Amino acid sequence: MSTGGRDWIAERVPISLEGIAAVTNEPVPEHLKRWWFALGGTPAYLFVVQIVTGILLAFYYQPSPSTAFESVRYITEQVSYGWYIRGLHKWGATLMIAAVILHQIRVFFTGAYRRPRELNWMIGMALLVCTLLLGFTGYSLVFEQLSYWGATVGANITDTVPIVGPMLKDALLGGAAYNDRTLSRFFILHGAVLPVTLILLLVMHIGLVRLHGVTQLRFEAEDAAPVRHFNFFPEHFYTELIIGLTLMILLSALATLLPVGTGARANPLITPEVIKPEWFFYVAFRWLKLFSGLTAVLTQGFIVFVMFCWPFVDDWLVRRFKYPEVSVWIGVLGVFTIIGMTMWEALVAH
Ligand code: HEM
Repeated sequence: MSTGGRDWIAERVPISLEGIAAVTNEPVPEHLKRWWFALGGTPAYLFVVQIVTGILLAFYYQPSPSTAFESVRYITEQVSYGWYIRGLHKWGATLMIAAVILHQIRVFFTGAYRRPRELNWMIGMALLVCTLLLGFTGYSLVFEQLSYWGATVGANITDTVPIVGPMLKDALLGGAAYNDRTLSRFFILHGAVLPVTLILLLVMHIGLVRLHGVTQLRFEAEDAAPVRHFNFFPEHFYTELIIGLTLMILLSALATLLPVGTGARANPLITPEVIKPEWFFYVAFRWLKLFSGLTAVLTQGFIVFVMFCWPFVDDWLVRRFKYPEVSVWIGVLGVFTIIGMTMWEALVAH
């Protein structure tokens, strides 16, 4: 841009570019050059893809039992590139959930939730819950047999939560059972309430990352060397750009090679022989089959509560057992249990 043009803008928008550079250009520790340490940027990038493709889908989607399924079919079969946008949204959701889980695993196993980052771990847990709820409400919108019955089972599980359960179920469905108003509730939750909540949580999450800086990690071989940094801009920005472009190619390939179809339209009168949620709820579903009813709901609630408070639980465990790696072994056990139960649910019908 010419100097005259730059001066014209600077006079009308008096923001100092040097000031912006100083705030955003934080020094990034050397270990973030290893891509698995930069995994937090991946769900953030995918979330932007979800917002753009979600807005395009919302131009056509009609949230009521009599129109929802037909509108999704119309998007998939009639709208120009509708199948592609729907494919990007569906695969984007799958990859976003996978990326959030992988990011959380890396934060856990590097102990990056420890003092002073306990609150950011808890905000991260809220982000995880928000992402999973986005997945659940989004899947329910399609009004296929499995998504309808999945939502019904989900609402019935909510009902078993002590004290607040029946009220929550009522609020979710807009009545005592699935009815004509239910889909518009799911749509408002999926397209407005949850994304806005996620954005607010992300502002706090990235804000705290910026205030604390990313955890400094040292590898045994580097113990003697001083901690090295590189600039956020342009070095780290380029890393994120390459990750973003690679993801876009991967998403396009998935949307084209494994296009998202439409299953059977929901029939509230016929219960399918096999009801399955989406893959990211397999572990919770298997748990429900192992310990039916109230026990399953209470134990799951307790596990999620412990995960929220993990930085404090870890602190107590380390002081109690005087062994800093105790969380690592609990984490290994947890990850193998989750993988094992997910595979178990994937492989058997009931
Ligand atoms: C939508 C979901 C999420 C997004 C977009 C996100 C984004 C980020 C980003 C960009 C960073 C900077 C470092 C990095 O790239 O790894 C970060 C760090 C961090 N995240 Fe997340 N995050 C999400 C979910 C979570 C979850 C589920 C947890 C854990 C429960 C979590 C806990 C943390 C913590 C503790 C840090 C600081 C790590 C350090 O200092 O090394 N985040 N996050």
